[in-house]
Amino acid sequence: MLTILVTGASGFVGSRFVQRWNNEYNILTPTHAELDITDDESVQNYFLQHRPNVVLHLAAISNTWRCEQEPLLSYAVNVDGAERIARAAAACYAKFIFFSSDQVYNGNLEYGLLREDVIVTPETEYARQKLKAEEKVLTIHPDAVILRATWMYDNPNSELPIHPNFVSNIETAVRDKKPLSVSMREYRGITWVQEVVEFLPRTFSLLSGIYNYGAANRLNTYETACCYFEMLDCGLRCDDIILADAERFPTHERNISISNEKIFNLSAGAIFFSDTLDGLRVFLQNRAD
Ligand SMILES: NC(=O)c1ccc[n+]([C@@H]2O[C@H](COP(=O)([O-])OP(=O)(O)OC[C@H]3O[C@@H](n4cnc5c(N)ncnc54)[C@H](OP(=O)(O)O)[C@@H]3O)[C@@H](O)[C@H]2O)c1
Repeated sequence: MLTILVTGASGFVGSRFVQRWNNEYNILTPTHAELDITDDESVQNYFLQHRPNVVLHLAAISNTWRCEQEPLLSYAVNVDGAERIARAAAACYAKFIFFSSDQVYNGNLEYGLLREDVIVTPETEYARQKLKAEEKVLTIHPDAVILRATWMYDNPNSELPIHPNFVSNIETAVRDKKPLSVSMREYRGITWVQEVVEFLPRTFSLLSGIYNYGAANRLNTYETACCYFEMLDCGLRCDDIILADAERFPTHERNISISNEKIFNLSAGAIFFSDTLDGLRVFLQNRAD
């Protein structure tokens, strides 16, 4: 049985990965105190003791606002921490799966679904840190798999850890009948975290490299929100709740929408994400069942 070390196992993605796969793999889930990725000794000791076959590196400061406010602290976790874990994984010949982000595309000016080979020019602290971490990880661990994940959501009432997300933002607005401004100038994929978790073991056998990992979406976020609002069939008028924000991202439209063709092709079709709207429909259907 494979031994998989999950860093950040108490987080949004990690907790769901553990819940889904705990019966099929030997999963190590050290707490932040048991494995502090900013501490050399903590990392060395943990790896010497446990020698995992696969490392799924999810630990991060994932809050983009916090990264802007605390760039040094977040760099120590998001870049130096990733580098440290990659080095430890390489030393024990473990496969290394690293979660990056579609935010690395946030300075790009191209339209359409972005492929991994586009030259990226990130313009926020979190995005620059993720790109730097990608570069360092691939240098230290040439066999690593880098996954550029999209914004994820789950059932807002989940008992597992959850952050505000696309679904919870809209459902809170509907519940409180409080209008929500959503950008017309932003394009991004939005993915049900259960799909993300379902495909993760299939990434262990991918060739090393960078892969977009999540749903494609050709609609802007306002259009996507209106579609989701209609799916909720809540009896309210969409125009009263979902407001079009044309002001945000004034210098250029933010397009971080990914193409997921590469991972589909290189996994021989084993990793196939639903398009964003289809994913939202499946998610709602699943909740209704
Ligand atoms: N959520 C999304 O929509 C999204 C989208 C794109 C990419 N991502 C990326 O996907 C990965 C997982 O995201 P997530 O939403 O699951 O993150 P999360 O919920 O914020 O969880 C982050 C995890 O990292 C741990 N951590 C932070 N600092 C640590 C340290 N110094 N040592 C050890 N553990 C530490 C946290 O533990 P404590 O809480 O105990 O500190 C927590 O378990 C991250 O790399 C994130 O950047 C997420």
